[in-house]
Amino acid sequence: MSNRKASMIIDKGFAIAEIDKRIYGSFIEHLGRAVYNGIYQPGHPSADEEGFRKDVLSLVRELKVPIIRYPGGNFVSNFFWEDSVGPKSQRKKRLDLAWRTLETNEFGLGEFANWSQKAGSEIMLAVNLGTRGMADALNLLEYCNMDTDSYYADLRRSHGVQKPYGIKTWCLGNEMDGSWQAGHKTAYEYGRLAAETAKAMKMMDNSLEFVSCGSSNVDMATFPEWEAVSLNEDYDYVDYVSLHQYYGNPEGDTADFLAKTQDLERFIHTVTATCDYIKAKKRSRKTLNLSFDEWNVWFHSKASDDKEMADRPWQRAPHLLEDIYTFEDALLVGLILITFLKHADRLKIACLAQLVNVIAPIMTDDEGGAFRQSIYYPFLHASRYGRGIALQPVISSTSHDTSGHSHVSDIDAVAVYNEEKEEVTVFAVNRHPEEDIPFEASLGNFEGYRVQEYLAMESRDMKAVNSLSGEQVAPYRKTDYRMEGNVFSTVMRSCSWNVIRLGKENHMGKENNANH
Ligand code: AHR
Repeated sequence: MSNRKASMIIDKGFAIAEIDKRIYGSFIEHLGRAVYNGIYQPGHPSADEEGFRKDVLSLVRELKVPIIRYPGGNFVSNFFWEDSVGPKSQRKKRLDLAWRTLETNEFGLGEFANWSQKAGSEIMLAVNLGTRGMADALNLLEYCNMDTDSYYADLRRSHGVQKPYGIKTWCLGNEMDGSWQAGHKTAYEYGRLAAETAKAMKMMDNSLEFVSCGSSNVDMATFPEWEAVSLNEDYDYVDYVSLHQYYGNPEGDTADFLAKTQDLERFIHTVTATCDYIKAKKRSRKTLNLSFDEWNVWFHSKASDDKEMADRPWQRAPHLLEDIYTFEDALLVGLILITFLKHADRLKIACLAQLVNVIAPIMTDDEGGAFRQSIYYPFLHASRYGRGIALQPVISSTSHDTSGHSHVSDIDAVAVYNEEKEEVTVFAVNRHPEEDIPFEASLGNFEGYRVQEYLAMESRDMKAVNSLSGEQVAPYRKTDYRMEGNVFSTVMRSCSWNVIRLGKENHMGKENNANH
């Protein structure tokens, strides 16, 4: 008989911070079938008058994605934005160097602005600091945001867009530390360019927010020196530093895969500490926040993508990065979201990379419909119910060791308090590979709260996947739990995602109509 168990104390006094809803952001890059045959497919039975797939739009809306990063990614480092606006018949076809793809520019900035409005999302726009630079970033800003009687603002109006787009959050390039990037730079070169670009863009619009490129991943040889050197140059002009990280399980070691949020924790701490070191060095009063603007599981498709790009370059909308996600991938996505919520004090933006077809929660068939991948669900739950105040979880859990990690807590969890709705949601993963584990949550000073709904995803098959023909991975309403006084208890299945929604009695039932 195992003595494994976990308990958690939740209390209104344990606030970490108000959660910035932008941590439920996502990302659309001109890559593979993300745009073409993803969000945009004129002639498809579900396309609307602008060629946007309505089946995809409705799944995106369900996720309530507040902000979407666009147009890359590596793609942005050789993107000529002027080619993507104006009359479609005059748009230039270009070679995208990042993904060795033909970019027809049938879909560009204006189309994306219209699409995001329909999706209910803000835009986070990246500028090309690879093959281009300051002047083009300024022109793009004028085109997007200015209402002046000047060349680029006039150009936008001549394209039929009277009102400026009002884009607030700007990424100063993408992964500029990476040798694969067109226009790759040293940390100092990048820091100088980012500082001058942000400074000039602020001269045009002082209300903008800027994201400075951090390291492409934690294993970069230049991490975290890249952050220290580049922020030393641009700290005064930027608001966030970016973090990117993808995880994989090519070894098929589930226990170790699910322990990888320990590495994520360390990554977040190191970047936060580096920002604070530069703050101290500069005697600055400004605190830099984190934009985790690329994160996900990504490994299933890598070998076949390399072959496709090498053997059949310059196709339009090739099948690239089409990872089909398993049940265990969904668990890791849930664990990552729990980790983000625990860092709500500094982590203000995060973008699930990506949104449609390319390492995505939503997949489409060129001729048929669209479906939800396994990872769709933890993201959906966090985005819907993880709004409000993140509460510091006081957790005591037994732990286990894996091939690459020690003292891995069996259950990881966090709670979110939505004051307005008088709701508390506990997100928890039992990541123990074999054992079901008793879990107890004491609701401290939350008086009169009862379980509204308990959603769980459980499976014995770590490799279960969803497809157009059906969902092997989906949440269900779990009923085997107890609520005694203000203590909730249950047994969390081995390898399970759990969402426990508690509400004040007089509020219950009002919002209890979610499908999943
Ligand atoms: O999201 C896919 C790619 O991953 C992005 O283009 C790049 O920024 C990262 O390396």
